[in-house]
Amino acid sequence: MRKDSKIFIAGHRGVAGQAIVSKLRELGYSNLILKSHLELDLTDQKQTNGFFRAYRPEYVFLCAARIGGIVDKAEHPAEFIMSNLQIETNVISAAHECKVRKLLFMGSAYVYPVDAKQPICEESLFSGEHGKVDEPYIIAKIAGVKLCEYYYEQYHDIFFSVMPCAFFGPGDSFELSKATVVPSMMRRMYEANMRGNEQFLVWGTGKPLREFLYSRDIADACVFLMEVYEKGGEYLNLGNGGVELSIEEIAQIIKKVIRYPGKLVFDPSKPDGTFRKTVDSSKLMRLGWRPKTPFEEGVRKLYDCFLDSKREI
Ligand SMILES: NC(=O)c1ccc[n+]([C@@H]2O[C@H](COP(=O)([O-])OP(=O)(O)OC[C@H]3O[C@@H](n4cnc5c(N)ncnc54)[C@H](OP(=O)(O)O)[C@@H]3O)[C@@H](O)[C@H]2O)c1
Repeated sequence: MRKDSKIFIAGHRGVAGQAIVSKLRELGYSNLILKSHLELDLTDQKQTNGFFRAYRPEYVFLCAARIGGIVDKAEHPAEFIMSNLQIETNVISAAHECKVRKLLFMGSAYVYPVDAKQPICEESLFSGEHGKVDEPYIIAKIAGVKLCEYYYEQYHDIFFSVMPCAFFGPGDSFELSKATVVPSMMRRMYEANMRGNEQFLVWGTGKPLREFLYSRDIADACVFLMEVYEKGGEYLNLGNGGVELSIEEIAQIIKKVIRYPGKLVFDPSKPDGTFRKTVDSSKLMRLGWRPKTPFEEGVRKLYDCFLDSKREI
């Protein structure tokens, strides 16, 4: 990529998108194309084609997606599959038509089967069953990965995907209906602290293992790949290299960061979810990329964002 290459970051206000924009700016990329959801609805094919023809981006980071929590997914399965498929088909076909040099599609480590062998390697994609509630999201994500593969096979477009583990960072929602594990636990524990609660209830046994990256590391890997990777059609796991934390350890770190003096109590009557979902990132690591932000440091940065969001209210 040249420093003045035209780079479109689809979903630039989201967690991954914001971090990619910061990273690109820091590296001196000056020609970023940023359109909010309101300015450009990527589910609309006519708008998307018109945008690509007018702006002719050379590189595309496809981070825009309809994502949500378990209840949202369970209540809106048709909307989840449609919106995600539309965003992917519209952006990828327009990128092909406008001869985009490279496109990076954000897949997800959550698309691997629930019973995949751990740590999960890329070849496990079709090796077993997928969770029912996540099915619409998973099918759409797999379609995105496959679209990149087929556009490479048929047209040699350098379109490829990353499969990130869970991540968090600036831009994360602290709204309990939408928030993912770390921001949601942070908000609930902060509120327990404010109320002076002596105990904090953690759902489940606290035993399941999770893999996380701070969003800055996600951006670092995506920009690195956009700069050096030339293999269209491929998909690469994007994890932290195998550092797993139990839900209990995550809760302990958040407790330390927000200085909550109370006791953590576990509620085994609540579901634990998948026991382990750790990806094998050796394919990416062999290219020379490494994450830089330890989990606790990421949690501290997220806590600063949380406190800022409270000051803004
Ligand atoms: N967060 C995770 O832990 C995680 C883990 C694995 C994979 N992923 C994947 O990584 C990608 C980025 O995730 P994220 O957490 O950064 O998501 P996010 O914070 O929810 O951001 C998604 C972005 O997509 C935009 N968007 C949604 N629908 C759109 C539409 N129709 N037209 C234009 N823009 C639209 C949103 O814009 P508005 O805000 O304006 O609606 C938002 O900027 C997603 O593909 C997600 O599936 C995320």
